[in-house]
Amino acid sequence: MSLSYQEFKKEVSRLCGTDLFLYKSQQMDRRIHSLMDFWGISNYDEYLNVLKTNPRRYQEFVKRLTINVSEFFRNPDRFIELWERILPEILQKLGTIRIWSAGCSNGAEPYSIAIILKELNALHRATILATDIDEVVLEKARHGAYLFNEVKSLPGDLREKYFRQEGEVFYFSDTLKKAVRFKKHNLLLEPYPADLDLIICRNVVIYFTEEAKHKIYLDFNRALRIGGYYMTGGTEPLLYYRQYGFENVAPSFYKKTGDPKLEAETGQWSLS
Ligand SMILES: C[S@@+](CC[C@H](N)C(=O)[O-])C[C@H]1O[C@@H](n2cnc3c(N)ncnc32)[C@H](O)[C@@H]1O
Repeated sequence: MSLSYQEFKKEVSRLCGTDLFLYKSQQMDRRIHSLMDFWGISNYDEYLNVLKTNPRRYQEFVKRLTINVSEFFRNPDRFIELWERILPEILQKLGTIRIWSAGCSNGAEPYSIAIILKELNALHRATILATDIDEVVLEKARHGAYLFNEVKSLPGDLREKYFRQEGEVFYFSDTLKKAVRFKKHNLLLEPYPADLDLIICRNVVIYFTEEAKHKIYLDFNRALRIGGYYMTGGTEPLLYYRQYGFENVAPSFYKKTGDPKLEAETGQWSLS
């Protein structure tokens, strides 16, 4: 057998349980090939065989494809907006709230939300679900140990308040850790939770094709209650937010106003 690159990608999609063709190809191809060079592999048959038979290399491969970089209060001004404006508004209207951090990586993102809710005295009124496709990074999230680089953007005394420092490592508060439920979930494949008040999905859709993003935006709309929010990363604005049934209330914050404005039969945009 002599696999072409496209066949290799198809086989690996099957192996990883995610469709690699839904990720932007330029970045994906570069990452796949740089690892191939690094391991000194010269053809796709051998590459596939290594991924099937060597669990450590398979984990390294998944890690390389998914890029897990994250930190607490990443883009601090957006988290301050969440703290001072968005979450108080949601909490004022509802007794209990449902939050989903999708593509949560090492947990810094959902834990930042737990900190904000604790500061707002509302942690007991919230359920926080945090999901990622990468099992290894979810284990790190559950463990809750971080390096300075990952906690450096926390404002004020929050680092002292919610972490225990041992040498170079900052351990996140055990009490707050319990407020977040971590679960493996593939955004491109699996059903989404429902009746949400806030979806935080940052620096994830940026890796996907336009086709994949389109489906995700429709599904995010469906997963939210009316008046619920979708928070994006700074470099991935939702361009056609009105058609997706949102209003843009602040940079990175989209509020659900209704259903997406698509023609039922064609699935195309309504021009009305
Ligand atoms: C760059 S990190 C973003 C982490 C965090 N949201 C932030 O902004 O700091 C991207 C995360 O998306 C996850 N990811 C990639 N493809 C995914 C998929 N199909 N479903 C769910 N998560 C995915 C990766 O495993 C990675 O942890």
